[in-house]
Amino acid sequence: MEVAKKVFNEEVTFTPATQHIGSEVSGIDLANPLSELVFKQIQKELYDRSVLIFRDQNWSPDEHIEFSKRFGPLENHVLSNYCLPGHPEIFVVSNIIENGKHVGAFGGSKRYHSDLSYMKEPSLGSIFHCLECPEGEGETCFTSMFAVYEALPEERKQWLLKRMGVHDYVWNFENHHNDRPPLTDEQKASTPPLSHPAVISHPETGRKALYLSAVFVRSFEGMEDAESQKIIYELIDFASQAKFEYVHRWTPGDVIIWDNRSVLHKALPFDEKNARRRMHRTTIRGSRPSLAV
Ligand SMILES: [Fe+2]
Repeated sequence: MEVAKKVFNEEVTFTPATQHIGSEVSGIDLANPLSELVFKQIQKELYDRSVLIFRDQNWSPDEHIEFSKRFGPLENHVLSNYCLPGHPEIFVVSNIIENGKHVGAFGGSKRYHSDLSYMKEPSLGSIFHCLECPEGEGETCFTSMFAVYEALPEERKQWLLKRMGVHDYVWNFENHHNDRPPLTDEQKASTPPLSHPAVISHPETGRKALYLSAVFVRSFEGMEDAESQKIIYELIDFASQAKFEYVHRWTPGDVIIWDNRSVLHKALPFDEKNARRRMHRTTIRGSRPSLAV
């Protein structure tokens, strides 16, 4: 692959990670406030390339939150018991146990999904900061749902353009998270099933993206679960080809921003019993997905 660097000023450089997805950003210390011009360049790169990678970042939870807020208002996760004490905007993803309690959400999804897609206004994106991670395992995979949609046969694209996916958080939780404490009635009531178009238009660029996952999408509207899931699993298998993916091998200090409207992501396994992994995540609120036309 030809690596085309884009230099926007003397310091900031964007380098593509793969053909379809990902861009490594160098020359930026995220702990320092960025000019509006540089921030706009970062936003544009995110909307075009779906995943941005920053190395060697050392910022406080407050700096993480302040930077995240420049993209839009933040979500506080439905699992408030895993938020950083005093910082409800930071969701902790970790297998670490302190004082007999998990400090964060553990056993993160090993299956492709888009964060909070089950909400009426799903997440615009997530910003992960790696504090601790094992070497050589526990990577995060991303796949470009722009590229996936564009590569589908025309007949399948036309079929999907007319479909709505039913996203159901409680259904997923009860089927796949026996390892977590059960949801409270209040948590269940805050996440009823709802539908989004199976193909959405990216709100900033208008580019079409497939907006489905086997994790949260229970069915297509008007179709049985089993029939729907057969198609959804086929599509996710298709999306799981290496040519659409970027696999991030974490190093402490890495910050990754991804656009939940145009990528799915999943965690790869690691030795959860012995290795330590601790990540801080902010989640930026998005808008209601719009039907692609
Ligand atoms: Fe996630």
